[in-house]
Formats: sequence, C-alpha cells, structure tokens
Amino acid sequence: MTAPKIIALAGSLRKDSFNQQLINEAARFALESGAEVEIIKLADLNIPLFNQDIEAQGTPADVQLLKEKLRAADGILLASPEYNGSITAALKNAIDWASRTEQGAVPAFRNKVVALFAASPGGLGGLRGLNHVRDILSGVGSLVLADQLAVPAVHTILDENGQINNPNTAEKVSALAQQLVTVASKLS
Ligand SMILES: Cc1cc2nc3c(=O)[nH]c(=O)nc-3n(C[C@H](O)[C@H](O)[C@H](O)COP(=O)(O)O)c2cc1C
Repeated sequence: MTAPKIIALAGSLRKDSFNQQLINEAARFALESGAEVEIIKLADLNIPLFNQDIEAQGTPADVQLLKEKLRAADGILLASPEYNGSITAALKNAIDWASRTEQGAVPAFRNKVVALFAASPGGLGGLRGLNHVRDILSGVGSLVLADQLAVPAVHTILDENGQINNPNTAEKVSALAQQLVTVASKLS
C-alpha cells in the first residue's frame, strides 16, 4: 500500500493563527500514521480576490500550484476559522479559485477525503462555520468525513511552540487525523 498524500491547510492568513497551529499538529499526527503530508500556508500564496476578468487573463501561478497540489492529493486536513458564523473570506476565495476547472482537467477537489477542524478562543470552537465549509466542499465533489472537531478556548491548550498541551484535545486531533489517513489510504 502506498502512503496516502495529504495536504494540511488552514483558512487563516494570520501569522500566529490558532487554526494553523492546530492543523500543524494534525499534520504531525498524520505523518506519524504513515501519510505523506504537505502543509500549505495560504499566507505564502499570492492569491488575488477572485475576479473572472483576472481569470480571463490566465490563472495566477500560485492558484495553479495549489490546484496541482490538490489534484495530486488523496486527502485534506482543513482547519477553518469561524468569522461571523461562517468561513473566512480567504478560505472561500482559495476554494473558489481552485474549483475552476480547465477544459478536460479533473476538478481539484473531486474525490478528496476531507477532515474538518476548527479552533476559536470562543466557547463553540468555530463549530457553526464547519457546516458551511462542509456544504461548500461537498458541492465541489469532496468527500467530507462525518466526524469533525471544533476546539473551543484554543488559546488555553496550545503552548508557546504551537503544540497541544491538553492530552484530551491531542487525542481527539490525533484520532481524526488517523481516520483521514485510513480512509485516504484506500484511495491512494
Ligand atoms: C471578523 C471576525 C469575525 C469573527 N467571528 C467569530 C465567530 O463567529 N465565532 C468565533 O468563535 N470566533 C469569531 N472570531 C474570532 C476568531 O475565532 C479568532 O480571531 C481566531 O483567532 C481566528 O482564527 P485564527 O487564529 O486561526 O486566525 C471572529 C474574528 C474576526 C476577525
């Protein structure tokens, strides 16, 4: 069996993003479970606000790169911050760009297994936004796992190195990351 290819992505552009730290931890657990994992930081990519006029002049290089990485992947670990009960503009923008399909090409999100995470300093952990991202990704052909994890009061469970210092949360993040690796390995 070949190692499944997993992309780890967070929907925040913030340097000290809690969601980025959480998905880095999920990525570490997936790696320990035998997957090939690549962390992609949205802030490192030059992705303009989607505009069909820009698209008509050619897909931006970083969007093309993101699409190629998604196409090559079996699964996605995704941490989606909650803004006003929904997903961030940065994440929706990246999904909108990557969902555009050149003639004859495979849609980038099609048949990718996705494990959804959210993290928030608030009490619900960003849970409300996960319904929206689940809907959006299902609409572009991804297979979103039924299990998901929203981490409330996230600022209290990460140490200064971005590692989870709460065994109960670490166990839950690890279990969901492992579940993704197990399902994605059947596609690889
Ligand atoms: C515009 C805006 C709206 C927000 N709305 C919510 C919300 O609906 N629910 C919530 O739990 N946190 C909300 N927050 C707080 C975020 O959860 C918090 O800023 C978090 O750190 C963002 O994720 P990040 O650390 O990965 O960047 C909001 C923050 C911003 C800037």
